[in-house]
Amino acid sequence: MKKKQGPQVPVFKPLIEKSEISAAVESLELGWLGMGSYVKDFETALTRVCDFSLEENRHIVAVSTGHAALHLALLMIGVSSGDEVITPSFNNAADFQAIRACGAEPVFVDIKEDTLCIDVDKVEELITNKTKCIVCMDYDIFLCDHNALQAISKKYNIPVLHDAAHSFGSYYNGRPIGNQHEYTMFSFDPVKAITCIDGGAIVVKGMENIKRLQAMRLIGMTQPVEQMYNNSRAWTYDIEELGFRYHMANLHAAIGLSQISKLDKIRSSRQASCKKYYEELSSITWLEAPKGDFDEVNPFLYYIRVLDGRRDKLREHMKLQGVDTGIHWQAGHNFTYFKDCRRGSLFVTEKIVDQILSLPLHSYMSDEDQFRVIQSIATF
Ligand SMILES: Cc1ncc(COP(=O)(O)O)c(C=O)c1O
Repeated sequence: MKKKQGPQVPVFKPLIEKSEISAAVESLELGWLGMGSYVKDFETALTRVCDFSLEENRHIVAVSTGHAALHLALLMIGVSSGDEVITPSFNNAADFQAIRACGAEPVFVDIKEDTLCIDVDKVEELITNKTKCIVCMDYDIFLCDHNALQAISKKYNIPVLHDAAHSFGSYYNGRPIGNQHEYTMFSFDPVKAITCIDGGAIVVKGMENIKRLQAMRLIGMTQPVEQMYNNSRAWTYDIEELGFRYHMANLHAAIGLSQISKLDKIRSSRQASCKKYYEELSSITWLEAPKGDFDEVNPFLYYIRVLDGRRDKLREHMKLQGVDTGIHWQAGHNFTYFKDCRRGSLFVTEKIVDQILSLPLHSYMSDEDQFRVIQSIATF
């Protein structure tokens, strides 16, 4: 049964237009529901957006979720039992769980106050001979200091896994996200700026690594990928290592392809909404509205920091005005399952987690919806 959307302004509103619905129908009519030609086309489209330079030999493998992408990337890095992985505590739980799924331990590092991204200056003191990887995550309208992370990675010979779940379609120093580190992951989950309903992708260097990933996403089956990309499969194959059912299905790839064809419009509309939030909210004294390099990013969120311990009261007030808000995120070290993990000083993280508030941000957000959000804050 169709359910009508309520009158409130939701935090997220997926952009599902006729083109996504037609693409989904076409992919179903093809009759090959698993991984097939649409996944190949989706990977090609992602590769085009990332615009890899030939000499770096980077390639993309699409998978079922961002979490699956993180898990496989960590396994590719060789993260296993007894290892440590440095990650901001201010991160998505998928990162912590992917680390634990490899049998390793997250080590929590603080974030920078101005970007809420990993504080690279605090990484070095947490590195030990158990450190197998550093996870950095671009948050919202901000990108990490990827140059500094590259330098640390080189100095200690520790690979960086770039969680770019928020920054697909963004640019760092003029280069598309996906080109900065040894490993990058994307998420195309239901609320991301570009969605596949659920989906993810991993960027790695070298055809050999890609072949491994292609098997690992298919419970380890070493099927010839070209056969699957022709909507067919082999019945005999080998299994050489651990694998998972993490592949992407045609239906999801078809929706993702339709979304990518609108990337420019989606990105510019979200940039415009973020600029408007900044312009309208930055003069309010009891909150902080961030100003990023709006023209360089494909924003997933727009957050504000609510000062003086009033965040939850503001949320209630906005809810009464018909405006939903979100919290991205609670800190990792405060979860029961991760409370004993090693950490450095988390001074900024501790401060931020009680202030942070995600405002509604949609692709092609209507002026009316944005006005309602701004009014609901201004009347607090
Ligand atoms: C920063 C970050 N990393 C990883 C993920 C996990 O991606 P997915 O939901 O596709 O599994 C998310 C999802 O919201 C995220 O925001």
